[in-house]
Amino acid sequence: NNYALIMAGGVGSRFWPVSRTEYPKQFIDFFGVGKTLIQSTYDRFLKICPPENIFIVTNEIYTDIIKEQLPGIGDNQILAEPIMRNTAPCVSYGSMKIAQLNPNATIVVAPSDHTITNPEAFVTAIERSLKAASENDCLITLGIKPSRPDTGYGYIQYTESVLETDPEIFKVKIFTEKPNLDLAKSFVQSGDFLWNAGIFIWSAKSINKAFLTHLPDMHEIFQQGNSSYNTDTEKEFIGNAYQQCINISIDFAIMEKADNVYVLPADFGWSDLGTWASIYDIAEHDYVGNAVIPSEKVMMFNSSNCMVNVPKNKLVILQDLHDYIVVESNDTLLICPRSAEQSIKQIVADVKSKF
Ligand code: GDD
Ligand code: MG
Repeated sequence: NNYALIMAGGVGSRFWPVSRTEYPKQFIDFFGVGKTLIQSTYDRFLKICPPENIFIVTNEIYTDIIKEQLPGIGDNQILAEPIMRNTAPCVSYGSMKIAQLNPNATIVVAPSDHTITNPEAFVTAIERSLKAASENDCLITLGIKPSRPDTGYGYIQYTESVLETDPEIFKVKIFTEKPNLDLAKSFVQSGDFLWNAGIFIWSAKSINKAFLTHLPDMHEIFQQGNSSYNTDTEKEFIGNAYQQCINISIDFAIMEKADNVYVLPADFGWSDLGTWASIYDIAEHDYVGNAVIPSEKVMMFNSSNCMVNVPKNKLVILQDLHDYIVVESNDTLLICPRSAEQSIKQIVADVKSKF
């Protein structure tokens, strides 16, 4: 009864210019390992459920890239969205469609753009959560020990109370999505908050019920597709359904509001490749804190704590530069203080309006 729903419709704008709307980061082989991020994600799930139970929800402009990168995925396993409406609609659509195939399904919802360095521990955590989700009406998330006050994450505080069937899955007290910097700092300092890994485990029944309670309009929209899912009329139905959806993430729409949220604290070498800081954190550094990928022709003089990502054959010289991001990709060069990386999203919007 185990299913995976991989979300792959984001454009990765904080990663510009490496990640582009036409070819976002989930389809890129970031570290030169021979697999793109979505291919690695898919491979991890092959250890958890049969290939026919893995579904990908993405924007329709990416369906060809997905077919090319994941030839094992059938047409009915690609859920194509006509417009971007963030992650709540994509979860609601996916859960209804999977429930229509199997009302007793348990589902892992996962992003397509993370790195996980300990896949065995990942599989163990997911299997444990799937079992718990099949036995309890609960919404489970995986919690990661935070390493910096990043404002791009959800923060979770949990209680001592545990699931009756699993003493390591804790009831969540507060879920705060993308706090401001002061709040993020106090969460990290307090020592009793975890980051939401953005990987969710629940039964189709529990998540559909949560939508009914917290976002009834969206529940109604996707419920109406029950006679269309997994048939020839699905595409047409979805085309209309999305026009009526508000733009909201699953975190704001459901996770912050529901009172049956649980967390499994986990450690499997997780990293959300969300911003340059996350790459910087997991990349190798020289003794003054410069991280260079790939490092062949970059020369640095009296420069420290810089994040440099340029094409392999590019000769780059830095003199007296500290705490900067230097990125070149697709004929675009971006130089920006590391402290201003959250503003890259806005920069991209400005660039797009000009060029
Ligand atoms: N299909 C689809 N449609 N996928 C989408 C859409 C959409 O409109 N928008 C985003 N996605 C995909 C992204 O490609 C990514 O794989 C995943 O959904 C999560 O979206 P992000 O935009 O990367 O979310 P985030 O990183 O800001 O925040 C989430 O993840 C954090 C951990 O990585 C939240 O869940 C946070 O609470 C969490 O800490
Ligand atoms: Mg992300």
